[in-house]
Amino acid sequence: MLTNHETGTHVDEVAAGIYRICTPLDVVPGGFTFNSYLIADDEPLLFHTGYRKLFPITLEAIRKVLPAEKLRWIGGSHFEGDEFGALNELLAVAPEAKPFGAEIGVLTSLNDFGLRPARGLGDGEEFSIGSRRMKWLYTPHVPHGWDCGILFDLSTKTLLCGDLFTQPGAGMPPVTESEVLSASETMRGMMDYYAHATSTTAILDRLAELHPSMLACQHGSAYRGDGAALLRELAAAIARGSAGI
Ligand SMILES: [Fe+2]
Ligand SMILES: [Fe+2]
Repeated sequence: MLTNHETGTHVDEVAAGIYRICTPLDVVPGGFTFNSYLIADDEPLLFHTGYRKLFPITLEAIRKVLPAEKLRWIGGSHFEGDEFGALNELLAVAPEAKPFGAEIGVLTSLNDFGLRPARGLGDGEEFSIGSRRMKWLYTPHVPHGWDCGILFDLSTKTLLCGDLFTQPGAGMPPVTESEVLSASETMRGMMDYYAHATSTTAILDRLAELHPSMLACQHGSAYRGDGAALLRELAAAIARGSAGI
């Protein structure tokens, strides 16, 4: 569903009750997309606020799915503009919403930036948003950021995987069943957006053990398929040091 003709923002349900809000922006040659994921439940959750300057566009899209005032959880993978830029604008709209992120992210950024105190999630911590449970995995420096983490919806086995598998381009479908690793490796070759960390393989293996059936990427299409296999292929590609497969 197109929600804004000017920006080309779309909202699509990519898994049961999980809506991808996608806005294309010309920030790299060939285009690029920024996704937020809205999970409709008793306590609606938004993963990634989008840039502050896109707030009216993101709000308009949220309102096509549910009243934004009902948001209860607003979080993101790590503290950057596309993950948390519009946090305070959203908190002003949704009085009961609580920001969340990694414990270290709350300490270093969120509680300084946010209008209201945030909930810091520990590694492996689970919480309910109504009919479904969410699990937080702390993934420091994978792909980047000391405060980096990944959110997993245990009911639909959707991994809200932030900047993992970042794909360039703008015209892609909301969901694909074709692998997204080749595209994200092209991006990694262009931008070198992975930290050169020592624990990358172990962290990606741990995410693979969740056996996600969807990888809900922040940039590009969401991937439906064998998420574990793709995560292990990504780990292998990084270990080889290759930036193109
Ligand atoms: Fe990032
Ligand atoms: Fe991002």
